[in-house]
Amino acid sequence: MTRIPWWRHAVVYEVYVRSFADSDGDGEGDLQGIRSRLGHLRDLGVDALWLTPFYTSPLADGGYDVADYRDVDPRFGTLHDFDALVADAHAHGLRLIIDIVPNHSSDRHPWFREALAAPPGSPARSRYIFRPGRPGERPGEIQPPNDWPSAFGGPAWTRVDDGEWYLHLYAREQPDFNWRNPEVRSEFEEILRFWLDRGVDGFRIDVAAGLVKDESLRDLNGRDSRALNGPVYSRPEVHDVYRGWRRILDEYDGDRMAIGEVWTDGPEDLALYLRPDELHQVFQFDLQLAPWSAAAFREVIDAALKAVAPTGTAPTWVLSSHDSIRHVTRYERPESVPGIGHARARAALLLLLALPGSAYLYQGEELGLPEVTDLPDEARQDPIFERTNGELAGRDGCRVPLPWSGDTEPYGFSPGGVRPWLPMPARWAPMTAQAQASDPSSMLTWYRDALALRRRLLDDLPEDIDWLDSPGTALCFRRGPLICALNCGENPVRLPPGTPLLTSTPLYGDLLPGNSAAWLTPS
Ligand code: GLC
Repeated sequence: MTRIPWWRHAVVYEVYVRSFADSDGDGEGDLQGIRSRLGHLRDLGVDALWLTPFYTSPLADGGYDVADYRDVDPRFGTLHDFDALVADAHAHGLRLIIDIVPNHSSDRHPWFREALAAPPGSPARSRYIFRPGRPGERPGEIQPPNDWPSAFGGPAWTRVDDGEWYLHLYAREQPDFNWRNPEVRSEFEEILRFWLDRGVDGFRIDVAAGLVKDESLRDLNGRDSRALNGPVYSRPEVHDVYRGWRRILDEYDGDRMAIGEVWTDGPEDLALYLRPDELHQVFQFDLQLAPWSAAAFREVIDAALKAVAPTGTAPTWVLSSHDSIRHVTRYERPESVPGIGHARARAALLLLLALPGSAYLYQGEELGLPEVTDLPDEARQDPIFERTNGELAGRDGCRVPLPWSGDTEPYGFSPGGVRPWLPMPARWAPMTAQAQASDPSSMLTWYRDALALRRRLLDDLPEDIDWLDSPGTALCFRRGPLICALNCGENPVRLPPGTPLLTSTPLYGDLLPGNSAAWLTPS
């Protein structure tokens, strides 16, 4: 029998480090805080943690602006704390994946400072993407070198004092590296080794499709920057980078892995990253993007399975992350039906965990946390808010610190009396991990039960699914000894013959109520 690597069917829990647990009372989460809460993750029943960036950073984009790739930001701890966290996570039976941010650095990275101090055309500038501007329509007017937009609003270029412009696909504090420069490549290969040597089990690669841009930096001319064969993302040369990374990962024991954050236009494109000498996994975001609809879910599941089938890898599934509106809130439609978002989120978990492949959970979903939509403007920190002049609220609403215990802010997130970096809602007392832990009807208990059952069943579950007949508002599939039924409609639907194992709402006989899901063993 072929040995199955740990990540292939893993449930990975995303820790947004700044908001998970604060041990030292500065209002921001840290590595020691994570260490102190590993028991929560073990009891939850996940297999691995993915830590968002904790590196030295001015936090212009919550740490996705790295100033030193080989150190821990003092706000988050020290390298010593990191080593202790790796050891403790492993002792708890948890793997540890870290985020690597290779598309861009912080503008405070020593290389970028050097680049700013060096003249146009210098080797220091060629580690980033500097270009002269181009003449505008009006006499004397200078325009950016091309028409690319920043993903956070405004142009993707900022002009420096000597008249050159530098490229930043994200905030201006995140200059893009020039991956055509071999020095950038070897630097990142060493960074990978630095963390592999410290015992990490894998990497989540930020903006994985973006590293190598079209050499001519041609205009988009109104096309979406993600468009297939466009100049910005998924250039053929990016695959060379990952072949090199794969060789490094393979040199280490213990099934070290890499998962790419790849937003693509088409499944063919996704499969390229999953060739046997490239990445182990890519995120498949379609479930997260789909509305609450059985037909839409079916379609994305089929497409996701089809996309990875030729590669021999297993799919990945995700409902929420630090970049998206929490799914409890996305599913809260119509808002007039109280609790509908939570009912659907419970049901969606059974779907997520019944599918072949691995599932990525986002911290707080096990507590049923909703998006915080009423943060005051002055509290908002996401650069999207500022760069769009407040037109877009940004992603702070899903990044509010976790409530652990107690009745008032900071709910055990920080030592008492400390104000967390984002305000926590007054209504969160019933949602703390402590309040939910001993409540059999809580979301936390639901997550624990579902994860525990998945773990028990996993060895017998094949990697393919067979769709079973169901009314249009529902979906139903069989995966070997497991049937998963999800009813996205309002009215009950009949379940196929079988013995219920877990149901998100009590059944009426063999009827599955609306906005619910069930797992059954076929009879
Ligand atoms: C990724 C991250 C996001 C970050 C961006 C720029 O999409 O998930 O949080 O803002 O990259 O690094």
